[in-house]
Amino acid sequence: MINTLVFVLCLVTSGASPVVYGIENIFKEDLELEQQLKIINKPSIKTIHTKHGDIVDCIDINKQPAFDHHLLKNHKLQKKPNFQRRIKETSVKKLSDRSIFGLDKQQRCPKGTVPILRTTKKDFIREKNLLNSSIFVQNIPGVHLAEVAVSPKFGPYFSVGGDNSVYNPYVTKGQMSLSHIWVQNGPINSANKISFGWHVSPELYGDHDTHMYTSWTSDNYHRTGCFNIRCPGFVQTHRGSYIGSRETNISFYGGPIFGFYSSITQDPLTKNWWIGSLDYNIGYFPAKLFSNLGSANKVGLGGRTLTLSGYRSPPMGSGHFPDRNFFHASFYKLIFIQNVSRENYIPEKYQIEKYIDKPKCFGLSYYGNLRGNYGGALQFGGPGGNCGN
Ligand SMILES: *[C@@H]1O[C@H](CO)[C@@H](O)[C@H](O)[C@H]1NC(C)=O
Ligand SMILES: *[C@@H]1O[C@H](CO)[C@@H](O)[C@H](O)[C@H]1NC(C)=O
Ligand SMILES: *[C@@H]1O[C@H](CO)[C@@H](O)[C@H](O)[C@H]1NC(C)=O
Repeated sequence: MINTLVFVLCLVTSGASPVVYGIENIFKEDLELEQQLKIINKPSIKTIHTKHGDIVDCIDINKQPAFDHHLLKNHKLQKKPNFQRRIKETSVKKLSDRSIFGLDKQQRCPKGTVPILRTTKKDFIREKNLLNSSIFVQNIPGVHLAEVAVSPKFGPYFSVGGDNSVYNPYVTKGQMSLSHIWVQNGPINSANKISFGWHVSPELYGDHDTHMYTSWTSDNYHRTGCFNIRCPGFVQTHRGSYIGSRETNISFYGGPIFGFYSSITQDPLTKNWWIGSLDYNIGYFPAKLFSNLGSANKVGLGGRTLTLSGYRSPPMGSGHFPDRNFFHASFYKLIFIQNVSRENYIPEKYQIEKYIDKPKCFGLSYYGNLRGNYGGALQFGGPGGNCGN
């Protein structure tokens, strides 16, 4: 390292050829990267190497990356939400096994600390090739979607959730395939949105695995809108289930099916937006981050894919079209939303708006209330391929 440094310095001082300037710039970028990494990777109280090869740092809960955000300087940490979950685990278990995103029970971070996936220099360099967060913006070439939204006519909304089958669609470099629930508010050009689910993104993780992710924006992804902890904002509270974690219990066509129960719920008192699973919360987005998310005028569920403009689209979900068989296409079941009454209910078919831009590539069916182990349910996804822009 020292040798390289001296060598570069010599070159820089010894002449002003274009080559030398090139090296100087690389050197400067490298320093900037190191500085950024220092800010993101907080001092670790304990470091865990997961069996999947991830490095997870247990960080003092009060010193986590979220609190670097200027709007969160005097934020009062909320440890638990002021609401209760009301889904019966038995009904969730019937069709699918549970997917667990995060650390094993015996491996969790010590009290007072939270797990944060470590960011490496390689991550930073790879991520630059990711097409921003444009996967969430409508009408971008290469972005396709199959989603339902509950109409603003019947809002506002304060919660959305459902039991989602976890798959591992094959994507190549520069592509992404995701499955998510979301809440949104505001006019389209300054939309505030939170998205939570799983995705496959080689640029973000350097692998082709399925990862739990979240993303938020307060200006329709113009200046805000990173994934996971890349921009400060998300406050992690759980000691085991962490953002960016990898899932290895993957569903297959015909079974077995692994489900991940996900929800986004606004805290009735603090107005923070909590993300969670069946019987635990992972953390929250503080209300302060948003310019206009006092409630959601729309909530939704479904999938999206991203490819370079002009390239074939990756598959979405299981890669199969909806056919009412929950062992075939990917699904959300036991769907619920909440309006001002703050009671869970299943949206009626007439309350649903469908967004599907390439029906040849991806399908979407909302079934309403199928009752029993399914409850409110939908299927989405398809093989992708040559969908056109
Ligand atoms: C990413 O976002 C910035 C700022 O909005 C924009 O200037 C740039 O063109 C975007 N890059 C890509 C690859 O879309
Ligand atoms: C889930 O994956 C883990 C390995 O990550 C494995 O040990 C476990 O048996 C799997 N669970 C099921 C139900 O297949
Ligand atoms: C809210 O949802 C409940 C069902 O839980 C429904 O009875 C009520 O009419 C809804 N309220 C509004 C304002 O839409």
